[in-house]
Amino acid sequence: MAHQSVYIARTLTETAMATLDRSDHELRIGSEAPPSREELLSQSRGAAGVVVTLSERIDAEFFDAAGPNLKIVANVAVGFDNIDVNEAKRRGVIVTNTPGVLDEATADHTFAMILNLCRRVSEADHFVRSGTPWVWGPRMLVGLDISAGATLGIIGFGRIGKAVARRAEAFNMRVIAFEAQRTPGDVDGTVSFVGFEDILTQSDVISLHLPLLPSTRHIIDAAVLARMKPTAYLINAARGGVVDEAALIAALNSGTIRGAAIDTFENEPFVNPALLDTDNLLLTPHIASAGDRTRDRMCLLALKNVDEVLAGREPVTQVVLR
Ligand code: GLV
Repeated sequence: MAHQSVYIARTLTETAMATLDRSDHELRIGSEAPPSREELLSQSRGAAGVVVTLSERIDAEFFDAAGPNLKIVANVAVGFDNIDVNEAKRRGVIVTNTPGVLDEATADHTFAMILNLCRRVSEADHFVRSGTPWVWGPRMLVGLDISAGATLGIIGFGRIGKAVARRAEAFNMRVIAFEAQRTPGDVDGTVSFVGFEDILTQSDVISLHLPLLPSTRHIIDAAVLARMKPTAYLINAARGGVVDEAALIAALNSGTIRGAAIDTFENEPFVNPALLDTDNLLLTPHIASAGDRTRDRMCLLALKNVDEVLAGREPVTQVVLR
C-alpha cells in the first residue's frame, strides 16, 4: 500500500519524536513554533493524518486545503475548542484529543496556583528581590490559611476537577462543586454539589475546570464576579474564554474579589497589557499540563490515535460531541 502522509504541525517531545517511523508513513514535521496559517494549510494538503496543538485553528478552510485524503486530526490537548468538530464530522474526519493522561499534572499546577496565590509566594519573591527593607512582622504578607477549613468551589467536576478536589481534601479544605449534570445536594465522597449561586457566595477559592463551549463562554463575567465574596480568589486553568478578561481586570482593580491566578488567556498567546498592571494576579503561560511524563503521554496518545485510524482501526480517544 502506498505510504499515507502525516503532517505533525509542531515538534513533539523527544520521547514522542523518537517513536516516529518513516517506514510507516511519509512524515512532514513542523518546528517548535506554531506554523503560520499558510504553512498549516499547505503542509496539510493531501495528508491522511494531521497532528496539531491548540494553537492551530482547524476549520472549514483547513479541511478544504487538506483535501479528501484526510482521515484524522489528532489534537495534542484535552480541550478541542480550536477544532470545528461538527465540520470534521460532516466531512467524515475523525477528531481525537488527549483526555485522562493530563489530569494529575493539571491538578498539580492548579493547586500550585492556589497555594502560591493564597500564601502570596510570587508576591513575596518579588518583594524580597525589590530590595525593600523588611523585618519579620505579625502583619507582613499575611495570606489566606487554606488549611484552616477554607472552602474550595470547583466549577466543572470532570476528571481534572476531581483531581483538584483530592488535593484540596488533603489540605483540609471544604470542597463544594457545581456541575451542570449534578443536582444540588448530591455528593461525591466528601464533595457536595451546590447550585451556581451557592458556589459563588460560599467559596473562598473558585477553580474553573470547564471546557470552552458556546454555553461556557464568559460564564465568569462582571455580574458573576460581583456575587463572589470580596475576599475570594479565582483560579482559571481551563480556557481563557470562560472568563470575561476585561471584567476580571476591573474586578481585581476595584477590589470586587481579592485575587486571581490564570494559566489561560482569552486571546492566547496575546496577553492583555492591562493584566500585567493588575495586582493580586498570578499569571502562567498555559503550562498546567506541562509535566515531563504528562507531555510525553499526550504526544504519544496523539500519535497512537493517528496510527490506529490510518491502520483502519478505532482511535483510542475520539472526540464525540453530545
Ligand atoms: C491544555 O490546555 C489541554 O487542553 O490539554
